[in-house]
Amino acid sequence: MAKIKAAILGFGTVGQGIYQVINEKREDLKKSLGLDIEISAILVNNLSKVRPETPGVLITDDFEDIINIPGLQVVFEGIVNEEPAYSYLCRAIDKGCHVITANKVMFSKYSIPLQERAKSRGVFIGYEATTAGGVPVIKTLKNLLQVNTVEKIQGILNGTSNYILTQMRLNECQFEDALKEAQELGYAEADPYNDVSGKDAFYKLMILSALAFGKQPNWNDVKIIGIDDITLEDVKKAKKEGLRYRHVAEIVQDEDGELYASVGPQLVGSDHPLYAIDGVNNAVSLDTNYIGTLTLVGPGAGSLPTASVMVEDYAEIIGKRAGFFITI
Ligand code: NDP
Ligand code: HSE
Repeated sequence: MAKIKAAILGFGTVGQGIYQVINEKREDLKKSLGLDIEISAILVNNLSKVRPETPGVLITDDFEDIINIPGLQVVFEGIVNEEPAYSYLCRAIDKGCHVITANKVMFSKYSIPLQERAKSRGVFIGYEATTAGGVPVIKTLKNLLQVNTVEKIQGILNGTSNYILTQMRLNECQFEDALKEAQELGYAEADPYNDVSGKDAFYKLMILSALAFGKQPNWNDVKIIGIDDITLEDVKKAKKEGLRYRHVAEIVQDEDGELYASVGPQLVGSDHPLYAIDGVNNAVSLDTNYIGTLTLVGPGAGSLPTASVMVEDYAEIIGKRAGFFITI
């Protein structure tokens, strides 16, 4: 059976999840795609870290070892920050590889040039994992945008913040203790500043904006507030009043096509659609002209939910439905 040669950039929470899901689903993927996948190499930063065993796979800290693999066809990316991720993906695309990324900091800024680059080289970019973890919001949007127009997007887009707020409310945890748990569970970023400051949710909202509206608002015009100033006392007081804190990201397009976005905590009552969304879950409500409001809910972070949607992107790109992708 013919093989697809793939590489993974980054071998932390997401990279290890991709490796696990591919190994667990390899036989099924062979059956559904008629092609086998082989992870040829994995890129890391620090070669001396102790990691799970990966028999027969080259572990390297040199991207040249990856990009020079003969016949490399797919690159999964799970590293952090804009660079060197963007440069690596540009080189992979130029070489004719499909790329599948989880890196929202990079993709929120470069989604349009990366997709144009991919289109010009006849390859595909999978980016479901950049936004809302295991919740298939990108697929859903691509699908419904063929017929529907999106008027508004509202949701909880950061699993760590929602986990912290939930632990503070249900277990009266201090903020720092709940954040430590989110880090141990692999939900938070290595540097959790973006999670608790609202920037992570902002990046995801910008990715949704580029897809749903074909453009983004001016980043400087978006008010971004995190959950880092919310105390246990605030959460307890809200609870007594029957209210819950939710970290809400929203974007609306007015009749003139102008976009208005905001990211910040809101106090919501039991009649609010985000009231019941607890723990690491994310929720995304899409207001559309024909369907009305559609809400997706599910785990917004974590190794296997994230990795599984990346492997789904792989299957979609390699499989029959590849031509279905829309380029924004
Ligand atoms: P981790 O910090 O657990 O892992 C990051 C990995 O990237 C590490 O293996 C690290 O190497 C490697 N790395 C970092 N910088 C470089 C570099 N310059 N060159 C080579 N390797 C590098 O992060 P996560 O796995 O949690 O997240 C990865 C990406 O996925 C991030 O962009 C994150 O925002 C995104 N994401 C994360 C989710 C989650 O639930 N954790 C969910 C959705 C998206 P080393 O191990 O040697 O330090
Ligand atoms: N740190 C992110 C979160 C990971 O907590 O939502 C998923 O993008």
